[in-house]
Amino acid sequence: MEKIVRPESMERITTPELAKNFIEEQIAEIKKQVGNKKVLLALSGGVDSSVVAALLIKAISKQLVCVHVNHGLLRKGEPEQVVKVFRDEMDANLIYVDATDRFLDKLAGVADPETKRKIIGKEFIEVFNDEANKLEGIDFLAQGTIYPDILESDGVKAHHNVGGLPEGMKFKLVEPLKLLYKDEVRVVGEALGLPHDMVYRQPFPGPGLGVRCLGAITRDRLEALREADAILREEFDINGLAEKVWQYFIAVPDFKSVGVKDGKRYEGWAAIIRAVNTTDAMSATIEEIPYELIHKITYRITHEVEGINRVMVDVTPKPVGTIEFE
Ligand code: XMP
Repeated sequence: MEKIVRPESMERITTPELAKNFIEEQIAEIKKQVGNKKVLLALSGGVDSSVVAALLIKAISKQLVCVHVNHGLLRKGEPEQVVKVFRDEMDANLIYVDATDRFLDKLAGVADPETKRKIIGKEFIEVFNDEANKLEGIDFLAQGTIYPDILESDGVKAHHNVGGLPEGMKFKLVEPLKLLYKDEVRVVGEALGLPHDMVYRQPFPGPGLGVRCLGAITRDRLEALREADAILREEFDINGLAEKVWQYFIAVPDFKSVGVKDGKRYEGWAAIIRAVNTTDAMSATIEEIPYELIHKITYRITHEVEGINRVMVDVTPKPVGTIEFE
């Protein structure tokens, strides 16, 4: 395969005007490539796939078929936002698949982190394949490949990303963002009218909350994690940390400790806060969250989330700790 190289003459897209030029060029390019054929896209709701979707909707509207697979491991409100933005507001051809049971049944009892990842990745491809097989007349597959993916992995979407090209699918690829860096993708996304919080969201691993619900995932603990994470994100947002901190989340280990709630013994899980800063995710430092805010988050999580009775803060940089726990 021919190596894709960004031309040195290509200007960095930093303004809405430059983004608009890029969008116009790409619309013409996509129309030329695709003609009147149909294009399939796995739309996770992450920055890259969302920007590809918005661009293709502009270029070929209903010739694009988006498939959003909810693997049950997304953050609170995410699947709803995908449906709202793309189906309701952009009038996209969107197939929403709630595959929660398929994933959680396969993951039941599985504690090994890499096995969990493999199950999630494999199941994702199977669900996507099942949906693709129901459709007819699709010639193209769109992907949110960006330039760092090409630099890091020779043209294939990064190794551990859920949602890569399913093997054995004979589609031609549409990859309109393949020469862009992440910051440029964001500028283009805003120029396409995507919500700011969708375009500037923190990185989120493909296997989602699956690698933060530590050990063997149970539905009740996953739900507690999702609620606690939503509180952390809300408080970071209110207190101006959401766009300052590179990545922040909750992890919930699979053991309980004894506590006391409403005057009674209350055995619950711990919610562990992790908030890190980095530029390349290879090493990371700890964000020093003000204690007052930690107290507020602790109060809210222990009072609002069923099953949680303690909050801890992880202050381990990378190395030695990785960013995720699993
Ligand atoms: P670690 O935990 O290796 O994480 O320090 C570095 C960055 O990669 C993300 N990450 C993943 N992303 N699939 C992904 O798409 C994965 O399996 C995965 N594991 C870690 C992590 O969130 C962090 O941003």
